[in-house]
Amino acid sequence: MVRARRSFLETGLYEPLRAEITKAVCEAAPGEMVDAGCGEGWYSCHILSELTKIVAEPFLSGIDISPEALRYAAKRAKEMGVFNQSSWAVASVSHLPIGTASCDCIINLFAPCEPKEFRRILRPDGLLIRVIPLEKHLWELKCAVYDQPYQNRPVLSAPEGFRLEELIPVKATITVSGEELSNLFSMTPYAHKTSASDAAKLDEIASLDTTISFGILKCRKDTP
Ligand SMILES: C[S@@+](CC[C@H](N)C(=O)[O-])C[C@H]1O[C@@H](n2cnc3c(N)ncnc32)[C@H](O)[C@@H]1O
Repeated sequence: MVRARRSFLETGLYEPLRAEITKAVCEAAPGEMVDAGCGEGWYSCHILSELTKIVAEPFLSGIDISPEALRYAAKRAKEMGVFNQSSWAVASVSHLPIGTASCDCIINLFAPCEPKEFRRILRPDGLLIRVIPLEKHLWELKCAVYDQPYQNRPVLSAPEGFRLEELIPVKATITVSGEELSNLFSMTPYAHKTSASDAAKLDEIASLDTTISFGILKCRKDTP
């Protein structure tokens, strides 16, 4: 799964999403940020690199339960010259090795959300950024796999203890090569529920144009 994600993300096809998340973080200009469930650091290393241009000595803590994903993330941070402004720790998002009220911004992308723990580590008025796939996300890919595809039913609300400040839509059409299609499909939550015969339909496709459609949720920590 880590290798599939890494291979697909390296195509740059999710760049429109990463650009908008980076913009949202840079607008907030956090000094201390956490990527909760950072995976291979494809988002966080780029964001940190951009943040260094506008904030004096920003620091990023990348947390993930997978040591293999973190090895990739730390290697990426070294390659991008941001390793000294980052730390990478194997831990659960429900017990973050981060001090109470010590962080300005959390990004939590396609990884489990633990609102109570996120509230604990955020300073008052801290920002939580999440991403939700919208109704038509990967619609053409689903049509290629399923006889009766269903649209997503996104829940566009802030987690408990946060208020939704802004919903930023990101929509584009991407052209995915045959070899990356199964990597992209394996990144979806429904891949493991799909029969081998349906999934094998992707092997017959040389290239596919498909919609990507996300909502970036900018959520502010509620003050009691
Ligand atoms: C779909 S990947 C997303 C990775 C990264 N945020 C991205 O968007 O590229 C989900 C990540 O969450 C991590 N993860 C799953 N459960 C976790 C938990 N309880 N605590 C920390 N990380 C977790 C997985 O190891 C994986 O790297």
